[in-house]
Amino acid sequence: MSGKLSDDALDTLFRNARTQNAWTDQPVSDDELRAIYDLMKWAPTSANMSPARFVIVKSKEAKEKLLPALTEGNKAKTLAAPATVVIGYDVEFYEHLPKLFPHDLTAKTWFNWSAEWAEAHAFRNGSLQGAYFMIAARALGLDCGPMSGFDMGKVEEAFFPEKNVKVNFLCNIGHGDPKGLFDRSPRFDFDEVAKIV
Ligand SMILES: Cc1cc2nc3c(=O)[nH]c(=O)nc-3n(C[C@H](O)[C@H](O)[C@H](O)COP(=O)(O)O)c2cc1C
Repeated sequence: MSGKLSDDALDTLFRNARTQNAWTDQPVSDDELRAIYDLMKWAPTSANMSPARFVIVKSKEAKEKLLPALTEGNKAKTLAAPATVVIGYDVEFYEHLPKLFPHDLTAKTWFNWSAEWAEAHAFRNGSLQGAYFMIAARALGLDCGPMSGFDMGKVEEAFFPEKNVKVNFLCNIGHGDPKGLFDRSPRFDFDEVAKIV
């Protein structure tokens, strides 16, 4: 187990990390996108189910497919971003548990007995993985702009034609231009939302 990160690293991951609305021209390489995945894949999910699925929209053609699904306020910044990650979750993730959780081959049966039960686990763990993706991107010096303002049906039709994958949220990735930032909004203090019992 390694020790606490430096204050600089904590600033990069949390205190100075902002949701970006504008992007510089600096591109994001496919190697950087793969490096994000190769970090975040190690973060935990229930029974190692790893339900998140990713489509990374970089090409002009793919951006054109995505744009009509976005709310107006999300269009220009998504067009300008070097990459937009469509983060989905596989509601049939349990089919892969023999590979992902080999030390207990009964794990598949814990999740496939009800579609609602499976979907709740896929959404919970897929959302965690979306968050891990953003933290990994920030750890690698990239900026994020998460978005839920889009038509889910249209995004699924365009990017997840296989019916077992549902969309969770989108995230622009690149190098943020601070000109697009709002002032930092307040957060709850510990005592407003947490207690130690
Ligand atoms: C899941 C998620 C969905 C969001 N959806 C949108 C969106 O559709 N459009 C938008 O402009 N901002 C969106 N945001 C941005 C949030 O408003 C922003 O992250 C929050 O206000 C915190 O900003 P900060 O990181 O700069 O402190 C979304 C953020 C998250 C995490």
